[in-house]
Amino acid sequence: MRDELKNLADVFFAKIVEPAYKINLSWVRRELMNLGIKDENIDHLYIINAPLSREVWYYVFVKLYEEKKLDSFLNLLLEKIGAINLGKLTENLDAVGLCYDGRFHLKTFNIVVLVSGRGTNLQAIIDAVESGEINGKIVAVISNKKGAYALKRAKKHGIDSIYLPAKKGEKREDYDKRLAEIIDEKKANLIVLAGFLRILSPWFVKKYENTIINIHPSLLPAFGGIYGLDVHRKALEYGVKVSGCTVHFVTENVDSGPIIVQKCVEVMDEDTPESLAERVLEKEHEALVEAIKLISEGRVKIEGRRVIVKR
Ligand code: GAR
Repeated sequence: MRDELKNLADVFFAKIVEPAYKINLSWVRRELMNLGIKDENIDHLYIINAPLSREVWYYVFVKLYEEKKLDSFLNLLLEKIGAINLGKLTENLDAVGLCYDGRFHLKTFNIVVLVSGRGTNLQAIIDAVESGEINGKIVAVISNKKGAYALKRAKKHGIDSIYLPAKKGEKREDYDKRLAEIIDEKKANLIVLAGFLRILSPWFVKKYENTIINIHPSLLPAFGGIYGLDVHRKALEYGVKVSGCTVHFVTENVDSGPIIVQKCVEVMDEDTPESLAERVLEKEHEALVEAIKLISEGRVKIEGRRVIVKR
């Protein structure tokens, strides 16, 4: 029960409270200190023995619920955990969320997709959103490359498509700040790199920690740090018998973040980089949709390097 409660706290904070209210932990910590953390409600935290971020979460929750007391909420939560429908718990919040099977689901899950090229992965996401497989909305597609076909795909589906070129001599971080402005304005819950051929600055990666995912056309950690056909060329040169794709969270080091989904394909003797790329690409589309679906349903938890998926 305790673990379940902690999990709910994790998901609730990461998926609902933080994105919706733009509250960050350092702000809350400061507020907590200002307030002396003497509130009797806060004592509950120690009973639950939650780590600091969860302590903070409960405090934020008290703030969100204002007049209602934390203990009554916690009792309600405890009572309801495991019940079929926990929607009532969130119906008073502006940050709309539904919860069932012990998981929170955002009613609106906003996805921003960053692209640089043809956008077949983007198309897979568009299709999955339109068919209802992913319960979310693509709020913007942003490209750093002018003629990117991905932008046309987005337009065709009525999605806001934005061309954001880097200025001459512009520092990486300055570009990323302009990018972040758009992303924040769109209230993104998830940033998907779908063939985005630009390395993001540490500033950007930190700002959107655990919120950016990338698709890479190899089974990482093999053949990371390179793009497109080069990846398949290297895989063939090395002589691997299986290759595939990886969807992972983006961290400061390129192609090194916690792995969410991997899919593999067999390598044939007669494969060329092009033929291998084609087979891997089919798997990419499946893997990316699967990863977005899992994240949007709050079923993904990062523990160190490992991503634990609640099935
Ligand atoms: C995809 O194969 C993706 O894995 C790769 O670029 C391609 C984009 O295709 N990304 C990388 O190599 C990143 N290191 P798409 O524009 O058709 O989705």
